[in-house]
Amino acid sequence: MSTSANKKKLVIGNWKMNGSSAANAALLRGLLPVISSFERVEIALCPPYPYLATVADLLDDSDVVLGAQNLSTELSGAHTGEVSGSMLGDIGCRFVLVGHSERRALYGEDDACVAKKFATALQAGLIPVLCVGETLAQRQSGETQTVVTTQLHAVLKAVGIDELAKGVIAYEPVWAIGTGETATPEQAQAVHRHIRQWLADHDCVAADCRILYGGSVKADNAERLFNQPDIDGGLIGGASLDAMSFAAICEAAQAKPTI
Ligand code: 13P
Repeated sequence: MSTSANKKKLVIGNWKMNGSSAANAALLRGLLPVISSFERVEIALCPPYPYLATVADLLDDSDVVLGAQNLSTELSGAHTGEVSGSMLGDIGCRFVLVGHSERRALYGEDDACVAKKFATALQAGLIPVLCVGETLAQRQSGETQTVVTTQLHAVLKAVGIDELAKGVIAYEPVWAIGTGETATPEQAQAVHRHIRQWLADHDCVAADCRILYGGSVKADNAERLFNQPDIDGGLIGGASLDAMSFAAICEAAQAKPTI
């Protein structure tokens, strides 16, 4: 079982807490002219909150869509410092990352919090990108599949399979994030296959769900990763901050349509 025919791959750039008005404008000046001709890949960018509106304007004439890196569990009201899903939708976001391992590890987001954010994102009309993945210790003790399944199950329990399937799943092994140590295409494919099988076991049209890989994806390893039958694109951190690198990754994705 792999993904359905002729599905465009999806590449999302997660800028994390990087950038400035000047740096973002320069990045997009270098990037947009190159990727605007890429019609066989869907591309999204997730800048930090303060730059979302400006980046939205800069993306106006392109097919590149906007995403956010986080959202509140709450809908509105007295939650100082929080940003709601409806606000993100209001300024033009299509996607929102949910449960990134940095949020789980550094900001105490547990599975229940992630599940609530996933539900809230859908309620706001956004497409949640649910990040799952194991630490190095968990991989070494053979727990990878259990960890990923547990993280998926928390969302399944909160929203049900039909809603879960409206999101995108991103497999991001924690040990590969920002380390330069990428999962091999075979390692990544094995987990992606497990996730797709899990979806199928829960009566989901698993072939229709997009499962992205993230973790040290670079221009020189993207093609081999995207060539795997269950890898539907990438969630890119560091390399998304460099126009030529990110463009090369997007090009690799469009050169490897999902079959
Ligand atoms: P890197 O591509 O820098 O490893 O980051 C991956 C990531 O965390 C994307 O969300």
